[in-house]
Amino acid sequence: MEKETLIYPSILSADFLHLSKDFACMIKAGIKTVHFDVMDGLFVKDISFGEKLFKTLYQRYHQKLNFDIHLMTEEPFRHIRQFLKLGGSDFTFHYENTINKLSELKSLRDEYPYIKLGIAISPDTDVSRILGLANNFDQILVMSVVPGASGQSFIPESVEKIRRLANFRKDNNLSYLIGVDGGIDDKTGPLCLETGADYLVTGSYFFSSSDKKVALEKIVRKDV
Ligand code: DX5
Ligand code: ZN
Repeated sequence: MEKETLIYPSILSADFLHLSKDFACMIKAGIKTVHFDVMDGLFVKDISFGEKLFKTLYQRYHQKLNFDIHLMTEEPFRHIRQFLKLGGSDFTFHYENTINKLSELKSLRDEYPYIKLGIAISPDTDVSRILGLANNFDQILVMSVVPGASGQSFIPESVEKIRRLANFRKDNNLSYLIGVDGGIDDKTGPLCLETGADYLVTGSYFFSSSDKKVALEKIVRKDV
């Protein structure tokens, strides 16, 4: 059976004046998971949104959509506990600021066995640094732009990281998902999928497309 490709729209690029309209479009286009970028103005320069907005959106849409929470924050484990109280269950935090605090992982897993945990690597981080940790995670997110803003160009070296993660997974019989976040469009998306990515985060490309269904079809096209 062919594996399902997962596309996660990043609502950082949604129209905040008409969020419910954008959510209706995503559901209509067949989206199953939205990507929720939390930025605290410390780990990255800007502040985006947090628990309050999540609570509203989760209460309204959790029966139709999963929420993939990407924590670009200095204290991701503290935030994970906050989001857990509100219904969140899928989290990705960054290797760069948690490498010395990974003991937290075990306590989270013991307390909340059902949650999904992912680790993200920024463009400057060598992928070999996380291979030894990979079996602790449900998903590994290759940041293909510098974290902190939507609308940036895809960094081509990210493709090699995807390839390394896919080969390592195969060679070691592991099962983590490989995600890619940043600069995904109808050219970079197919390239990442062909290289071994399982899910793609797309912000500006998806939300600026007038026909969301066609935009999705172009990301997953198999003819490249
Ligand atoms: C970047 C965020 C991304 C971003 C993607 O720091 O983590 O999720 O919203 O936006 P695009 O697709 O426009 O690069
Ligand atoms: Zn993100």
